[in-house]
Amino acid sequence: MSRRPVNPARRIGDGGSIPFVGVVQSKSRSSPLISIGLVIVGAILLIGYSYSGSGGTSSDIQASSKIEGGISCTLEVQRALPILKKAYGDSMRRVLHVGPDTCSVVSKLLKEEDTEAWGVEPYELDDGDANCKSLVRKGIVRVADIKFRLPYKAKSFSLVIVSDAVDYLSPKYLNKTLPELTRVSADGVVIFAGYPGQHRAKVAELSKFGRPAKLRSSSWWIRYFVQNKLEENEAASKKFEQASTKRSYKPACQVFHLKS
Ligand SMILES: *[C@@H]1O[C@H](CO)[C@@H](O)[C@H](O)[C@H]1NC(C)=O
Repeated sequence: MSRRPVNPARRIGDGGSIPFVGVVQSKSRSSPLISIGLVIVGAILLIGYSYSGSGGTSSDIQASSKIEGGISCTLEVQRALPILKKAYGDSMRRVLHVGPDTCSVVSKLLKEEDTEAWGVEPYELDDGDANCKSLVRKGIVRVADIKFRLPYKAKSFSLVIVSDAVDYLSPKYLNKTLPELTRVSADGVVIFAGYPGQHRAKVAELSKFGRPAKLRSSSWWIRYFVQNKLEENEAASKKFEQASTKRSYKPACQVFHLKS
């Protein structure tokens, strides 16, 4: 299958270390000095790699999605908006965002020209946020349990963007929720999910909603999508990848593009 994570380059840190260890071991019998030298060079390269991978260089992409000691894929959605616009064009006109802190994404989208936006907050609202309260009063943001039917008609939105939300669902509920997300969208669903091993922002807060995030690998997700006949939106994936490369944007989360 041609399905694959949007940015396989992120994995170089893991996969690249295997042949490197092999080189060190094969040389160690003949010269311990060379192997120590190689380890040092390797360490410098790895440190350099992790620094170079920590943010885009483009000025309209925020430096990082790290907050409160963890990665927030909701913040990553905001970073990715210029890329999403390139990939989806007119399909960014009527957007539903689903995920924690949805008010922040909806507010940002509403500032864009020709964009209408709504949000579903699956957990709880930040009581102190007056802007968010006003969005809820206007019916733009709703608090809803995404394990159940979403309160919207079919194809109400051109695009549905999900972040930090499906990670928390067991396959039983994913089976209900993902079809719901495709039902209410007309042109596609974009899923921002965490990488396994990533520290999540606000984990303590979210854990009271049942379970800690189950961060699944891209192969887990792709197998799940295929089993459930959710098709990749290949055209959008390709455009997203091209726009990411052009702006040296490296998503801190896994990004999947599904057809409606
Ligand atoms: C989810 O749906 C798939 C495909 O229809 C099915 O094979 C699987 O058993 C379901 N999982 C659960 C936990 O219901």
